[in-house]
Amino acid sequence: MFGLFNKNKIAEEVKKVFIAEDYKDILPVAEYFKNETGVTFERQTSILQSKVTTFCKQREIYSFIELLNTIEHNKNIKQELIDYLTTNETYFYREFKQISELVDLVKKENNKVNILCAPSSTGEESYSIAIALLEAGIPSYDFHITGIDINSDALNKANIAIYRERNVRNLSSDIIEKYFIKNGSEYILNDNLKHLVNFKLVNVFDSSFKQIGKFDFVFSRNMLIYFDSKTRLKAKEILESMRKDNKYNVFFGHADLF
Ligand SMILES: C[S@@+](CC[C@H](N)C(=O)[O-])C[C@H]1O[C@@H](n2cnc3c(N)ncnc32)[C@H](O)[C@@H]1O
Repeated sequence: MFGLFNKNKIAEEVKKVFIAEDYKDILPVAEYFKNETGVTFERQTSILQSKVTTFCKQREIYSFIELLNTIEHNKNIKQELIDYLTTNETYFYREFKQISELVDLVKKENNKVNILCAPSSTGEESYSIAIALLEAGIPSYDFHITGIDINSDALNKANIAIYRERNVRNLSSDIIEKYFIKNGSEYILNDNLKHLVNFKLVNVFDSSFKQIGKFDFVFSRNMLIYFDSKTRLKAKEILESMRKDNKYNVFFGHADLF
């Protein structure tokens, strides 16, 4: 009889009989995710439930409780869940007015400045700042940019720095020609620009965040929108503490209202 089945098929059938799937109570996962990352799914629990169910099934994890237990001792699965559930939407020259304000302030400084983008997502914001500073005639040795994010996939993309049309849609053709090589539908960022930014995998709520140093300017746009109001205030305080002095306000996004 077993000749009809291959080994994997048998294993699958055995699992179905002996392991009861339970993907009902998503709240402990939502709670865990919020505690770890700040990101809340309070008003989107059914979306979260469906996404995490898919995540579990792809990894043969049969319940949300099993997922939480697995994450306890498996850092890779934890990172995969973070990569899967965080939203990385961004593009070059997003909310450019603030970048332009930064350029004016940097021009007034006589020293080399350090700039933090927390979060950087796939790199467009950090590279936009580099481009805008260069375009304003500020030499590359006068600034350094650090981009941090909790999403490792996003940071890999930031390091590779190959973008699509929709990512560069706000850039003029002159800027594109100057800083990218176009290859089919891909926009490959020039290496000399890539060297002006360092990306690091860091959670803003982790103690390691404070260890990356202090910065003249801090950008934190479109991350707090994913947090509840209490967590936003906590993040605001942490981000403000990353400044070298209190000379300049942190650049928050227009949607990151308090
Ligand atoms: C929508 S992107 C914003 C990117 C860019 N700053 C912009 O405005 O276009 C939000 C990013 O916040 C990151 N993020 C969420 N929670 C985080 C945390 N606790 N620490 C660091 N990054 C976080 C996500 O991974 C995501 O890449």
